[in-house]
Amino acid sequence: MTTLSRRQFLAGLGASGAALATGSWLTSIGYAQAAGPARTIVNQARYRSDLDRRLLGAFLEHLGRAVYTGVYEPGSPLADARGYRTDVAAALKQLAVPIMRYPGGNFVSGYNWLDGVGPKKARPTVLERAWNSIETNQFGTNEFMEWCRLVNTEPLLGFNLGTGTPETAVAYVEYCNVDKGTKWSELRRSHGYEQPHNVRYWCLGNEMDGPWQMGHMPAREYGRKARDTAHQIRVIDPSLELIACGSSNPIMPTYLIWDREVLEECYDQVDGISLHNYYGNTPNLTGGSTARYLAMNLDMERQIHEIEAVCDYVQGLRKSPKRLWLSFDEWNVWYRARSGDAVDGHRTVAPKLLEEVYNLEDALLVGGFLNTLLRQSDRVRVACLAQIVNVIAPLVTNETSVLRQSIYYPYAWALQYARGRVIDLPVQSETYPISGKGLRPDVARDDQVPFVDVVVTVDQKNAEASVLMLNRDLEGERELVLEWRDPTPTRVLACETLTGPDLKAFNTFEAPDRVAPRKLDPPQAGATMTFRLPPRSYTVAHLSTA
Ligand code: AHR
Repeated sequence: MTTLSRRQFLAGLGASGAALATGSWLTSIGYAQAAGPARTIVNQARYRSDLDRRLLGAFLEHLGRAVYTGVYEPGSPLADARGYRTDVAAALKQLAVPIMRYPGGNFVSGYNWLDGVGPKKARPTVLERAWNSIETNQFGTNEFMEWCRLVNTEPLLGFNLGTGTPETAVAYVEYCNVDKGTKWSELRRSHGYEQPHNVRYWCLGNEMDGPWQMGHMPAREYGRKARDTAHQIRVIDPSLELIACGSSNPIMPTYLIWDREVLEECYDQVDGISLHNYYGNTPNLTGGSTARYLAMNLDMERQIHEIEAVCDYVQGLRKSPKRLWLSFDEWNVWYRARSGDAVDGHRTVAPKLLEEVYNLEDALLVGGFLNTLLRQSDRVRVACLAQIVNVIAPLVTNETSVLRQSIYYPYAWALQYARGRVIDLPVQSETYPISGKGLRPDVARDDQVPFVDVVVTVDQKNAEASVLMLNRDLEGERELVLEWRDPTPTRVLACETLTGPDLKAFNTFEAPDRVAPRKLDPPQAGATMTFRLPPRSYTVAHLSTA
């Protein structure tokens, strides 16, 4: 294809055959099946969203070695005077994570935030029941706020709506956000924090649909508790952004019903609803097929569409002018360190829990998830990679250093390069078939998967654009032709790819660069650019449009 009008292009999509059957993934994400190189047209007048960077957030839970020895390790030669790991802080500053969810996760549903504030010597050591660990409370809300300032991220705090009450949740907001003159704001000041923390984003509990959750309850009961809590919080500050707990996974028997019932109870009081999901290359999710595994970002996309539909249904029911946004505040690959000792702290401090080792294929899929989140950024405003350090994380510490796991790279690229507007792309690509036979019901589908998955962002202010490209073809290089209508790239600033011969390769402290980006020869900048994407790769191109 040299040049082509948008109408011709779309007509081509319309004629592209079997894969356009109703309900296919392709149509739902604006893709079509077509022979030859993958192609798309970039026109910045057609865009999905002005990107809210909170879409690229992360998560820090009091779990395993995430807080203790991950971000906080007094006594370590790597710690600063306050006990924060300087190597981890430096890595995070470099990443520039826009928002960090804290303190849980399952942990939050049994957490008494009062245990973690005030003089450290007076803080109780408690038995933490989500992960059967010992919690010393030496790191709490004020330490987290200081650390957020240190690494330049915004806090997203969670309430305990499991064993906690609306009263303890409202007191927490008052402690964090009220300037002075009230019981809880004065307590904060007495702890040495004169200025309020001014936290804007809050989660109304965590995974309250899950029987594993402390304080788990039926949907309507949770919906009423969330509404009551939110209603009281709005007295303190009506402008806070409050996120209700949605379903913790599409495999839950109450999936979508939970979300509908919760929202029927609290729609008017909340701003967003949460989605969670973890993925894996397992017999029941993929049948052990990497080709199926690399399509799992499209399962994420389907979940987003389904929850979106529930929100819109309740909006219609309520005749509400308010459109809820989605908070995909836990997502990642997690399937190896998921049972036995990997999830049981055996009543120790900072046990080794959920320490998933990530390989190349995991990193490619994480690239796919980032593409999906960006593509759905008109509706998903907040999202958090779960988690950030040591626990299912891109960063891992030992006593002397911090290691970047494979999944670090696609995440770092999205953070560095995805800026401005996410462009609405019509894409055509060759496809491969997948089969749902024998798979778990929520992922069991016969469908066509595009080999190439692409997202473009355009940053008008800085006259730059970025292209994030996943090649799911395990054997062959794939070409992607980009037709730039507006803007037109003038220079390639960077072009890197993550690939390799061994999909199961992973990094270790001894061999930290087994899975690491390498430079890729880019096409010349101009109105038509053809990228040659290596087999099984995730690639980024950063372009000047000045
Ligand atoms: O991120 C690990 C755990 O996964 C979280 O604590 C919980 O919310 C989810 O089930």
